[in-house]
Amino acid sequence: MTTPKGLKLVERDATGVDTAFRADVLDGLAEAQKAVPARWFYDDAGSQLFEDITQLPEYYPARAETEILRGGAKEFADLIGPGRAVVEFGSGSSVKTPLLLSAIAPSAYVPLDISGDFLRAAAADLAAKFPGLPVWPVEADFMRRVELPAEVDGLPKLGFFPGSTIGNMVARTATDLLRSMRETLGVGALLLIGMDLIKDEDVLVAAYDDAAGTTAKFNLNLLHRINRELQADIPVAVFKHEARWNDTYARIEMHLVAQEDVSFSVSGQRFGLTAGESIHTENSHKFTRRTSNTLLAAGGWEPRARWTDSEQRFSLLLAEARAPRSAP
Ligand code: AVJ
Repeated sequence: MTTPKGLKLVERDATGVDTAFRADVLDGLAEAQKAVPARWFYDDAGSQLFEDITQLPEYYPARAETEILRGGAKEFADLIGPGRAVVEFGSGSSVKTPLLLSAIAPSAYVPLDISGDFLRAAAADLAAKFPGLPVWPVEADFMRRVELPAEVDGLPKLGFFPGSTIGNMVARTATDLLRSMRETLGVGALLLIGMDLIKDEDVLVAAYDDAAGTTAKFNLNLLHRINRELQADIPVAVFKHEARWNDTYARIEMHLVAQEDVSFSVSGQRFGLTAGESIHTENSHKFTRRTSNTLLAAGGWEPRARWTDSEQRFSLLLAEARAPRSAP
């Protein structure tokens, strides 16, 4: 077994602050519609809360995607083949990855994540489950082009991006990410990507506003993280979790709504919200077969195969990085 080694790529200033986190929060809170990018949910507490979300009765995406991964093993083996280095963008799940790895007989596993502790725990877990499989974890922000470990140079790649995390991005950012994945993985690489499907609004809203309040905790944890890591004094109790369906963009939006006028400081800068104003914390776009194919094509990936769960709630798509060529 190869011992997982961490490769640190997150940038911190002299006081240990993640400089990208601070810049995103300060910029986002200065906007007319205040907003913080969803990727900052995932500190260790947030990553744990997200794992809790995947167990909720209302949160169908995790179960639906797992069903697809279980049922598709034979077809994955046929279409993907053995010997690929699997590069997972945002390693979180302890359930989904083993299902894929045992289906296709890969040559290496490279989990990428911005949450270092969670990453190392997930990598160690995987290495124990698959003795003989080299595991090379990389602590990185995969929104930027990632330098893969030299150990996987020359191996054919399979990108794995489950969970419909691509849905967190607006179309332009999603396209940029797909293109940068293509750069990271190379022409001829395959990508196995989850995309959640458009469905009944009540079902969608409930999945993001569960009865037990776990998603509310997950959303509010972002404010606790800002307070802890960015010298801030946000009165968290003033904010209330809200999930809304935006039909124009086919997405669920999560907001933190101020219940009264409030002001606070973050890293020495003052901010204020009036009662009813919100901080927009997440988009979760939902797709159809056609919109998912169009998005993949825009990012330089040719759709090759598609699976859904038995209730048509969630889709998993296989795509290939095509050589650039002129239309048509
Ligand atoms: C991890 C991005 C797929 O959008 O469904 C779950 C995150 N947010 N509940 C999603 C999330 C609130 C999740 N993704």
